[in-house]
Amino acid sequence: MLRGHLLILLLISISGSIGLVKSHEENGLWSCNSHSETRIEANFRPGIVTLDGRPDDWTDVDGLDFALLPALDPHEDDAYKGGKATFKALHDGIAVYFLVEVEGEYVYSKGVNNKCPSVALMFQVGENASYHNMGGCGESPGTCSSKTCKGHEVDIMHFSIGSAIPGRLYGGNPIDNRDGYGGDRFGHLVDVYSWNPHCRYLDGLGPSGNDTSAQNDWRGAWWHDSFTAQTGFLEEDSPYSSAGQKGKFYFEFSRPLRTMDRLQQDVQFTIGQLSKIAVAFWYPVDGNPWHGSGHYSASCDWLSLDVALTSSALTRVVSRSSWDAASAFSLIISVVAFCLSVFVGYSVSKNKSVPFIPMQQL
Ligand SMILES: *[C@@H]1O[C@H](CO)[C@@H](O)[C@H](O)[C@H]1NC(C)=O
Ligand SMILES: *[C@@H]1O[C@H](CO)[C@@H](O)[C@H](O)[C@H]1NC(C)=O
Repeated sequence: MLRGHLLILLLISISGSIGLVKSHEENGLWSCNSHSETRIEANFRPGIVTLDGRPDDWTDVDGLDFALLPALDPHEDDAYKGGKATFKALHDGIAVYFLVEVEGEYVYSKGVNNKCPSVALMFQVGENASYHNMGGCGESPGTCSSKTCKGHEVDIMHFSIGSAIPGRLYGGNPIDNRDGYGGDRFGHLVDVYSWNPHCRYLDGLGPSGNDTSAQNDWRGAWWHDSFTAQTGFLEEDSPYSSAGQKGKFYFEFSRPLRTMDRLQQDVQFTIGQLSKIAVAFWYPVDGNPWHGSGHYSASCDWLSLDVALTSSALTRVVSRSSWDAASAFSLIISVVAFCLSVFVGYSVSKNKSVPFIPMQQL
């Protein structure tokens, strides 16, 4: 039994380190040197995450740390000054979960999205969709369509928190989904697709008409370290904390691995396969409202997202978290069993008068 546990201990795996993507721009032309493929592991970790914006349930999940550089002009000198960011992902076989953590002083202006931090995730849908120019279709708003931009579809989730109460759930809701589009009238956690930055639409809406078969398939919540409330916030508690408090912003999201999209507007995740993802962040630097293209990005090209079939991290973390209790328990059982066998052996050898009765006579 002890040997068995030693084997489990030896099976504890070590997670691979993840390199950072380096980038720069030359002569005003877009260029991105991502030296190695940066991979984010979304391991199979069912039942550990509650979608409430709070990060404590993610402690045992390895993340990718990255610097946030301006998305349109990724110079390291112009990096986000508030601190570093971390990205984590996992899946439970049904949905995929993401956590974006960004160091930053608390700032919040109720109802004014661009004076609050904001986060977006972007995924490749069409096989020819580039990270740069959000799909990279060469058409303009007058000419882009599902035909002229075929193959350039990207899927975007954008969360602007100006009307979202921390810890509360936003995104797909029965009222907007009944209308068959990717909006969210309550918290502005929207499901968007695009072919390029100028041809960007809520799911279901489009230049050549609307299709009410679409849905907002995302859910999410946000939080900041400076919040002290244990119970739920209400809208009148805004701004929820005092400005300038140090800490991290947390943005937690979930989406089913597969959706009922019939329009090539949602990424579809497959267990055991890689997807392409990008992470964007907006912040009202020095209190100035941000504008749409003034975002920071975790990379200057797609990152790989591995929706993993099994999880080496699962073995590691389960072993780590349950090791103390399980090993102590089995150690006690082994000691008790050993003592019992010594006692039985001793009493049998001591009591020489135990009569031998052949089986046939019983
Ligand atoms: C992607 O581009 C290649 C090469 O230009 C082309 O052959 C292919 O049909 C494109 N894929 C789609 C889905 O349009
Ligand atoms: C599509 O829906 C949007 C938002 O509801 C609306 O503004 C637009 O007029 C609709 N377009 C068509 C062609 O019906």
